Amino acid sequence: MARESTRTVQGDSAVTDAAAVGVVGLSKAYALHSTALPVLQDIRFDAAPGAFVSVVGPSGSGKSTLLGIIAGLEEPDSGSVTVGGTARRLGAVAYMPQADTLLPWRTALDNAILGLEVRGTPRREARAQARELFAVAGLSGFEAAYPSALSGGMRQRVAFLRTVLTGGSVLLLDEPFGALDALTRSEMHEWLLGLWERLSVTVVLVTHDVEEALLLSDRVLVLSPRPGRVVLSYEVRLPRPRHRAMTVSEAFVRDKALLLDAIHGVVS
Ligand SMILES: Nc1ncnc2c1ncn2[C@@H]1O[C@H](COP(=O)(O)OP(=O)(O)OP(=O)(O)O)[C@@H](O)[C@H]1O
Ligand SMILES: [Mg+2]
Repeated sequence: MARESTRTVQGDSAVTDAAAVGVVGLSKAYALHSTALPVLQDIRFDAAPGAFVSVVGPSGSGKSTLLGIIAGLEEPDSGSVTVGGTARRLGAVAYMPQADTLLPWRTALDNAILGLEVRGTPRREARAQARELFAVAGLSGFEAAYPSALSGGMRQRVAFLRTVLTGGSVLLLDEPFGALDALTRSEMHEWLLGLWERLSVTVVLVTHDVEEALLLSDRVLVLSPRPGRVVLSYEVRLPRPRHRAMTVSEAFVRDKALLLDAIHGVVS
């Protein structure tokens, strides 16, 4: 059974009603040529309020599907998801999808304030809030640019700002830094950690990058190849604040090897 093959290293937190995000027995299959394609199988995890949880796993293991279900955009076949202890509903979380979803007819600044506007913040005030963040995200001077005039990495940062500005106590981020160069990525990590600490938000981050997961997270979930099951739920005990230089430390290298083994299906 899937549950029995789930390894837990360095303790695990119980799934409780108080979890900011609680996922229990979640399974999902898509229809493919009149057969069922199982994508997620019996997923169970929780994120305590204010926790930073990352999800890693091979391409196609259902990571984006899992976030879409938590966001309320997709229905699971079985299992349940709670956000803040109650059944999830659309709009309860701020969600950044993997694909770039900027509106081509809106400037970068007006794309960034979309979530704020939907929540009723007057445009003038929303723009002022967004302007401050543009500087932090290295986007100063591009407020009036349209998405077609931005690089992939810049569009990703605008979409990321929009998610952060949307507010809410849970941020779901699907590979938010995938298109960024190493330096910008590092800067965005620091910025995200600063935000996470300041706003006490709960973050569920999907990433392909094991180092990114270790630098940012309290816990890393490793999914098996499709259908995705949680093969490892790993509590990261590296001290905070964490920074790039740590990646060469003995503890970091050990953690990284353990996660990579789990991703590649090496059972220890
Ligand atoms: N709307 C859909 N309809 C049918 N099949 C889908 C749909 N969305 C995803 N799938 C299939 O479900 C599987 C998991 O997709 P998903 O996008 O969740 O994987 P992922 O882990 O996020 O992959 P990646 O790391 O490449 O982003 C894939 O085989 C994909 O083809
Ligand atoms: Mg994906």
